[in-house]
Amino acid sequence: MCGIVGYTGQEQAAPILLEGLSKLEYRGYDSAGIAVRNAGELPQLAKTAGKLHFLVEKTDGGKLLPGTCGIGHTRWATHGNPTVDNAHPHTSDNVIGVHNGIIENYAELREKLTDKGYRFYSQTDTEVIVKLVDYYYKKYGIGPIDAINRTMVRARGSYALALMFVDYPGEIYAARKESPLVLGTTRDASFLASDVPAILKYTRKVYYIENLQAARITPGRIQFFNLNGDEITLPAREIDWDASAAEKGGYEHFMLKEIHEQPRAVRDTVSSLADFSSTGLDNAFLRSVERIYMVACGSALHAGIAGQYVVERLCGIPVRVEFASEFRYRHLPMEKGTLVVVVSQSGETADSLAALRKAKEAGLPVLGIVNVMGSSIAREADYLIHTMAGPEISVATTKAYSAQLAALYILAVRTAMAKGTVSEEEGKYCLDEIAALPDKIGAVLENKKQLQWFATKIASDTDIFYIGRGLDYAVCLEGSLKMKEISYIHSEAYAAGELKHGTISLIEDNTVVIGVLTQEEVAEKTVSNMIECRSRGARLMVLAKEGIRVPDGLSDFVVRIPSVPDLFSASLAVVPLQLLGYYTSVNRGLDVDKPRNLAKSVTVE
Ligand code: F6R
Repeated sequence: MCGIVGYTGQEQAAPILLEGLSKLEYRGYDSAGIAVRNAGELPQLAKTAGKLHFLVEKTDGGKLLPGTCGIGHTRWATHGNPTVDNAHPHTSDNVIGVHNGIIENYAELREKLTDKGYRFYSQTDTEVIVKLVDYYYKKYGIGPIDAINRTMVRARGSYALALMFVDYPGEIYAARKESPLVLGTTRDASFLASDVPAILKYTRKVYYIENLQAARITPGRIQFFNLNGDEITLPAREIDWDASAAEKGGYEHFMLKEIHEQPRAVRDTVSSLADFSSTGLDNAFLRSVERIYMVACGSALHAGIAGQYVVERLCGIPVRVEFASEFRYRHLPMEKGTLVVVVSQSGETADSLAALRKAKEAGLPVLGIVNVMGSSIAREADYLIHTMAGPEISVATTKAYSAQLAALYILAVRTAMAKGTVSEEEGKYCLDEIAALPDKIGAVLENKKQLQWFATKIASDTDIFYIGRGLDYAVCLEGSLKMKEISYIHSEAYAAGELKHGTISLIEDNTVVIGVLTQEEVAEKTVSNMIECRSRGARLMVLAKEGIRVPDGLSDFVVRIPSVPDLFSASLAVVPLQLLGYYTSVNRGLDVDKPRNLAKSVTVE
């Protein structure tokens, strides 16, 4: 989704803005722009369609645009194509601005503003909001904060806004509803951005502006205001990770680096939960949980599906996993005794956040399993498990997914121990096995070469099927998503037993079918389904746990993962599938870390 940066200080702003935008590239975008100014001069703009390097070239790394105050933007097209005209910043007589989010009533506002004599030069909702601020500013002769507040009352939807007013040189104004925005200061400069990596080089002390709040940003000082225009104080938060955590560190891609960080991410998540009371979930509460709704999107949903199997098995309570985008509009029973678990890496996914709010409105307790501290879901959940994956830059998630799995296992074990559905001894055994996962994931990572080779064999295929049963099906969902999102090869995950009910008609000569076999109870059944595919011409790959029998000759390509209790095998089985997706994408010469059309943090519905 769009990325916003802002800087005001003593240095030339444009190079700082371009560097900040480069740190937000991972969010996904298709055009970029900056506006900078000096006191007494009008802002100068530069915009380009396509990747950021076009803007860097156009402005000679920012050198061609003088000025010590500016705003910048990478746009992920929603309203209108990714053209220069639609790229931000957008301007009005007195205001210039950038925006992340969607203004839902933009059409109606645009009509009203057109009637008032405004002309529009783009198809964007952003131009509408910039002109609306301008309209209130002029009509009432009020200051920037009051004009922004009036606009916030009038505009529906989600936004993070950064604005410069022609009459206020050296100042940037910001406002937010739903979309993320972080601000920070040093002694003589101030910054704002959609995410921490863009400003971490300059400061670790940051402020998260809340919904319907505004800010005035001057060099070395930030003031915050509520919707009434009263100045308010927000707590400063210290970022506890280093800028190097968001660098490639010698790896060719962030995704490969993050795959290798999984042992650390899981270890840190597990140790941070050694004192489980830090989550706020005490035994009395866990005992009272009669059912769980697990709500999330994409890979976080897949982690939830794996968690569903583990919770059901250990705790004996029903778990429903729901797409957040469906949950928010469905009319599910919201009965007492239900815990809603919202899983999210970014903590800003619009649908997941809306699902959280819906659950809270219904009076249900919400546990957030979130990677980004300070994010909306982390702040609004009643209980919080902070996954310790650290900053994840690659659009395709890997280490955050693995950390989510670990968090869900521990939630399941702790709930089962509280409920007495497992004994203390069994619970302790499970916790020890979870603590042993990082080393085993490390061992799986040793096996990269095999996957690299297999990726060359499938790189020009057009369809790949992943099949498995039980927890293996949950892993297939994630493996298949990794493959399709970064290699653009069509891929589907199927519960192996479902194939015969229609989909097997798609299997023909040379179709690739990957069978996952880690669940002792059902592995033989999946093998039978694989044989059925082979009989119809499929090329098979087997991913099997040590100890599970793979019939001779079933496949020329067998990848083994170390022995691990069935319940926690997803943590190991997913790694070869992540690597397979990664190497396939590399083989096809694609932009692994920033796949087409995707955004890291999906802050609109
Ligand atoms: C896929 C991927 C997405 C996210 C999904 C939810 O690799 O990263 O499917 O899992 O967009 O995002 P979060 O976890 O930030 O809520």
